Amino acid sequence: MAKLLSVLGALLPLLHQADAVGYTNVSEVPYYGLSPPVYPTPEGNGGNSSSWQAAYARAYSLISQMTLEEKVNVTHGHGGQCVGNSGAVPRLGLPQLCFADAPDGIRGQEFVSSFPAQIMVGASFDRDLMYRYGKALGEEYRGKGINAALLPVAGPLGRVARGGRNWEGFGADPYLSGAGMENVVLGLQDQGVIGTAKHFLLNEEEFRRNPGELGEAMSSNVDDRTIHELYAFPFMDALHAGVASIMCSYQRANNSYACQNSKLMNGILKSELGFQGYVVSDWGGQHAGVASANAGLDLVMPDAGYWGGNLTQAVNNGSVTDTRLDDMVARILASYYYLNQDQGYPEPGVYPYNVEHEIIDVRGDHASLIREIGAAGTVLVKNVNNTLPLKNPRYLDIFGYDAKLPASPWTNPSRFGGGYEVNFGWNTLNGTLITGGGSGSSTPPYVISPFQALQDRVLKDRGTVRWDFDAENPIVFANAEACIVFINAYASESFDRTTLQDDFSDRLVQNVAANCSNTIVVMHDAGIRVVDSWIDHPNITAVLYAMLPGQESGNAIADVLYGDVSPSGRLPFTVAKKESDYGLLLNSTISFEPFPQSNFTEGLYIDYRYFDKHNITPRYEFGYGLSYSSFDYSDISVECHDDTAPEYVPSTTNTTTQGGDSALWEALYTVKASITNSGEVAAHEVPQLYLGVPNAPGRQLRGFERVFVKPGETQEVEFKVTRRDLSIWDVLKQDWQLQKGRYSVDVGRAVEILDSRIRFTGSKVR
Ligand code: NOJ
Repeated sequence: MAKLLSVLGALLPLLHQADAVGYTNVSEVPYYGLSPPVYPTPEGNGGNSSSWQAAYARAYSLISQMTLEEKVNVTHGHGGQCVGNSGAVPRLGLPQLCFADAPDGIRGQEFVSSFPAQIMVGASFDRDLMYRYGKALGEEYRGKGINAALLPVAGPLGRVARGGRNWEGFGADPYLSGAGMENVVLGLQDQGVIGTAKHFLLNEEEFRRNPGELGEAMSSNVDDRTIHELYAFPFMDALHAGVASIMCSYQRANNSYACQNSKLMNGILKSELGFQGYVVSDWGGQHAGVASANAGLDLVMPDAGYWGGNLTQAVNNGSVTDTRLDDMVARILASYYYLNQDQGYPEPGVYPYNVEHEIIDVRGDHASLIREIGAAGTVLVKNVNNTLPLKNPRYLDIFGYDAKLPASPWTNPSRFGGGYEVNFGWNTLNGTLITGGGSGSSTPPYVISPFQALQDRVLKDRGTVRWDFDAENPIVFANAEACIVFINAYASESFDRTTLQDDFSDRLVQNVAANCSNTIVVMHDAGIRVVDSWIDHPNITAVLYAMLPGQESGNAIADVLYGDVSPSGRLPFTVAKKESDYGLLLNSTISFEPFPQSNFTEGLYIDYRYFDKHNITPRYEFGYGLSYSSFDYSDISVECHDDTAPEYVPSTTNTTTQGGDSALWEALYTVKASITNSGEVAAHEVPQLYLGVPNAPGRQLRGFERVFVKPGETQEVEFKVTRRDLSIWDVLKQDWQLQKGRYSVDVGRAVEILDSRIRFTGSKVR
């Protein structure tokens, strides 16, 4: 591990007198648990973007020729090939649009790729890989003629440690998640595919996400500041990148269903953040007709929901205005034109498996990118005496269910390939885990298991492999040079996890470690996995979080284990020593009340912010990950670009720039640091910038870079710090505030490794 500069006092200049806008009592906070009405829906008009303006001009010229029924028809789902199909207007040449899952690959189709899950892309801390991931997905979605891809995911963000869908997002930090959202949207939409940022907003748990026999869905009750600085933050990045669609979420937000919540849709999304595209409901997430229309929902899926004929009637009787209906249609059509989908976009090529159809192979050479991300997103957390990389072992023992393919994941042919019915999450203990379950799971064309890839390697070295995939206490051969144990932890949409470990896997690891002095543990986990029941075992020499790598699973982990790739993945969440350390953030809120309430009383303090605040030492902190090399950090500097920056940007309550006022995105400071590879291996390193903003959590990620540095070389990294990065949300002024005060500036390998962090020590006051 790098030995670096020590921590000293730190200061960044400051700009304006801070009015403390922090609060101590949730009841003081505007609209906590209560969603204020914001009406009417701002009309999409292109704002100050010429391409959106041109798209609106074309949309309105078509709308002027449409009948009321035709307009209504466009605003809801219909039967068709895809998981969602909008209404066509054949008379005017407007086709049905095709919507499909999932964030890590097209679900339920053949000749498509199974990519790593977003959590693994987050763990790569690499913007370029994020972009290439979005681009490759975009090529596949376009190739299959899918107009709208139901990705990327920034909600859930990861508030609840056991949340069932956290693996669908980029990690439990809004800045990291925002970087993923921005770059994936850019990559995807560069291919002409409509990106759908989801789920807006506050969909942090699966328990009672929908109404049911017990009563209404859970209400996520969150204060205004936390909404802005934590949960809406990554959506801002997607919007800034031009995302054309937003999916509203299932649950209630401050007691109003997210898909009929005027504060969220009319207020934050369409006014403050100037959204020009359309809001689509999560599937079956609409719970009222007129209310959802007037609150800013534009398209209901997968069927007519409460609209269809009812919407026609509502427009006729004035409950919903003509203008609102036209705006719904305009937003949908403008998005279609914005992505130039009227100019030679392929016809949908999405088929049920049992229907004769042409083969449309959209995989290109994405396997190599999948393998690259699989290695880049693997996080090495323990490596005693440089046990890794492996030194071409002649005797290798491989243990655990996760090393092999599941016996038969295709056991339900009536579901597989049925267009969108397939569910390819592989349950724990059944075989290797490459994705999680539910609509976020992908459908691999093949899977390279860890065993297959490792056996190939050993074979090349004319060695001997021994394995046992099933035994809880497998026989370890005395001459084994290394024993690799593969375990996993499954999670899925629809339910939250009940544990962050499992007894069988823990016993398996302990049993192998009892008999093998060089035990290496690889985990494929759909989220956080605690490891304290065995992590300190002296025979456990190396441990890796290998996340959810998709179809190239085995090749990716072999690349890391054999040292073709030095690990540079970083944890996109905090791993606690024990589950109870997550405190109120461990479990979803369980309530059997008819109107269940989940109060986010921790405010801004989730994941590492929570651990920091409560002084809890984690097992592995957010951002943590080892390398086969070592790095020295030096020469941190901070440069101010605009020492006249005002305290507030022009009001953000009605912006014309999608994503928020452009001033928010201007770099006010540049932080630089030098990274020297002081080891012997050419490797990527991920320096991270953490800022301590006054009246905010002590340290927050506000920059990262993944740089390749050869031994003995030094590279300078630069972090552009924007106004948004430095601001807090002023709930009284309803605006982003740049405070005057002292800011700490840390650059390091993770949020908490003190010996690898350097801190800016200048006191540059203007
Ligand atoms: C429900 C899920 O919440 C959403 O993410 C998905 O896109 C839709 N179903 C469509 O499958």
